[in-house]
Amino acid sequence: MAIFIRHCKQLLTPLAPGHGPVQKLTDAAVIIEEDRITWVGFDNDCPPSEDGDLVIDATGQTVTPGLIDAHTHLVFAGDRSDEFILRTQGATYQQIAASGGGISRTVTKTRDTTAFDLLRTARPRVNRWISQGITTLEIKSGYGLSTESELKLLRVIRQLKNESSIDISATFLGAHDFPVEFKDNREGFIQKIIKEMIPAVASDDLAEAADVFCESGVFSVEESRQILETALKNGLKVKVHADELSPLGGASLAAELHALSADHLLCITDKGIQDLAKSETVAMLLPGTAWFLKMPYAPARKLIESGAAVALASDFNPGSCTIDQFSFILMLAALYMNMTPDEILSAVTVNAAKALGRELETGKIAPGYRADLVLWNSPSWEHIIYHPTLNHAGKVFASGKLIYQSEIWNECLFL
Ligand code: NIG
Ligand code: FE
Repeated sequence: MAIFIRHCKQLLTPLAPGHGPVQKLTDAAVIIEEDRITWVGFDNDCPPSEDGDLVIDATGQTVTPGLIDAHTHLVFAGDRSDEFILRTQGATYQQIAASGGGISRTVTKTRDTTAFDLLRTARPRVNRWISQGITTLEIKSGYGLSTESELKLLRVIRQLKNESSIDISATFLGAHDFPVEFKDNREGFIQKIIKEMIPAVASDDLAEAADVFCESGVFSVEESRQILETALKNGLKVKVHADELSPLGGASLAAELHALSADHLLCITDKGIQDLAKSETVAMLLPGTAWFLKMPYAPARKLIESGAAVALASDFNPGSCTIDQFSFILMLAALYMNMTPDEILSAVTVNAAKALGRELETGKIAPGYRADLVLWNSPSWEHIIYHPTLNHAGKVFASGKLIYQSEIWNECLFL
């Protein structure tokens, strides 16, 4: 049985990673067979369906590839609302971390929480992402910081992956911070990551990539390099939390190591921009974090104009960004980073796919690609960016299966 999606008001798809043109077809159709897209074009040219095929009328709907959130920390326990209030009174994220709060508080709480309870709280978060048209989702560990607790988090992510209808990519972030028991023995912790954690993660195939928080006071460029080179030797891909709070040089390190992505980049230098532009490493921008931490935004325009591929993601976590409404991230990218609607679409489809090593699998609507699609109850892609508090996802297809539908309609459709 094939699925025919007929009369899409407008179908938008980027054609390749980067910021080339986005193809826009008015009155379009798509055919899905099993988990693949087999045909896309103008509805007038659509081959006929046969008995037993499912025909869906997408009149009035905007259609895009399934969206991709390629940077989240959504498995954790507890919350840090008290730190948020301290920040509203003038304390900075770094001051709170230095006085024993921050990541290490979430680590304490997460270590004390069972895998069952972590799964119980993460599952509805994943469902919330699905309901917003996300069909590929990256989730990092990083709130365990001991071999046992990091493996616990990665097993929770694996369980989410096994039971979910979307594609979930796990990242090992054991180098997220130094745990209390290693505060005075940095080298000891680095050796633990290198000799114990990375081999255990790789041998159990628990993650596709390793990430490091390369930041002043956390992992230096040299420490990050040592950890990421070990990850590469163990068959993992790599990515970097780079130049988030200070211009340490993480972006250049990411480019040098052929990382999938360099993430955050609020403080990236011109040299970092040039290095990324010359590389295949995706610049993963997380404007929700800049907004939540009241920091300057990453220089998206400079990155795009230099030739870097820019992706956008939520960074959802309890300390630096609690925004779980993906279109709100898109609005921030438009308002504060001056990204155009086409650039934003590429950023959350093809470029995010590339940042997960999936650019030949998903992120665009073309024959042979995985049938990850969203039919939006919205008159245009621009509306999804412009009106982020409304959930516009009408029908979400992942690997050819209808996994979510909603009858909430953007009222502008009826005007
Ligand atoms: O991406 N930068 C490091 N990690 C997260 C913050 C994690 C936390 O504060 O709990 C981030 O911003
Ligand atoms: Fe992050």
